Amino acid sequence: MPQKILILGGTAEARELASRLVDEGHAVTTSLAGRTLDPILPRGEVRIGGFGGADGLAAHIREHGYDRVIDATHPFARRITENAIKATAATGIALEQRLRPRWQKQPGDRWRSVGSLQAAANTLPAGATVFLALGRQYLDAFETRGDCRFIIRMVDAPEAALPIQDYTLVLGKPASDAVREADLFTAHGVTHLVCRNSGGPAGYAKLIAARQLGLPVIMLERD
Ligand SMILES: NC(=O)c1ccc[n+]([C@@H]2O[C@H](COP(=O)([O-])OP(=O)(O)OC[C@H]3O[C@@H](n4cnc5c(N)ncnc54)[C@H](OP(=O)(O)O)[C@@H]3O)[C@@H](O)[C@H]2O)c1
Repeated sequence: MPQKILILGGTAEARELASRLVDEGHAVTTSLAGRTLDPILPRGEVRIGGFGGADGLAAHIREHGYDRVIDATHPFARRITENAIKATAATGIALEQRLRPRWQKQPGDRWRSVGSLQAAANTLPAGATVFLALGRQYLDAFETRGDCRFIIRMVDAPEAALPIQDYTLVLGKPASDAVREADLFTAHGVTHLVCRNSGGPAGYAKLIAARQLGLPVIMLERD
């Protein structure tokens, strides 16, 4: 029987899930936060913007009478996941979680795992040229590292100058091809990579490139 399903999305996995559920005949709505200017839209209905906390999400679930709520958000998007847990508990719906597993270290990887952005920033040696594969909201911890040069990749151009003393901006999404990622690192003289352990195929090419180039990776783990 067709069901009314809310997917909390913003990931490639959420788009694939929406497509599969639409094909199965369900009425699917994907919710996006609205962080990306020109997002790839999933099939089915799409709504964009915050709900106004857990209470707002609970009100939205009640108003639309969803049969299922699926959290397929990015594993580092913690607040929306917390809100989803509270909102589904309040509305009596079982929350289905589809969060991707983290990447595992492979032979040849030179990863140093850290538990915080501050620890990542402190770990960098003076004089390093650092590729920061992090979103805008994760950069403040690197503000004091004027003794390093940063190459920062972002999907959309930032609206204001970044809080980093010496940086070069690379606009665009991660390449899916490790050779292209390695070429990018080499062209910029990168000596260290800083990224989050997000899991999934989309950002993995940079880690293969780092392995092939023998680059140290400062890996921010989620708790
Ligand atoms: N964090 C990442 O690195 C990352 C990477 C790739 C994609 N994404 C996607 O980008 C979105 C935002 O990530 P974030 O880390 O900023 O989230 P977050 O810190 O967990 O959430 C902050 C607030 O943004 C709103 N929000 C987040 N995801 C939403 C969604 N799917 N639909 C409607 N509102 C949402 C909620 O606002 P209200 O409290 O007002 O409801 C939430 O309280 C998520 O959909 C996530 O899947 C995040």
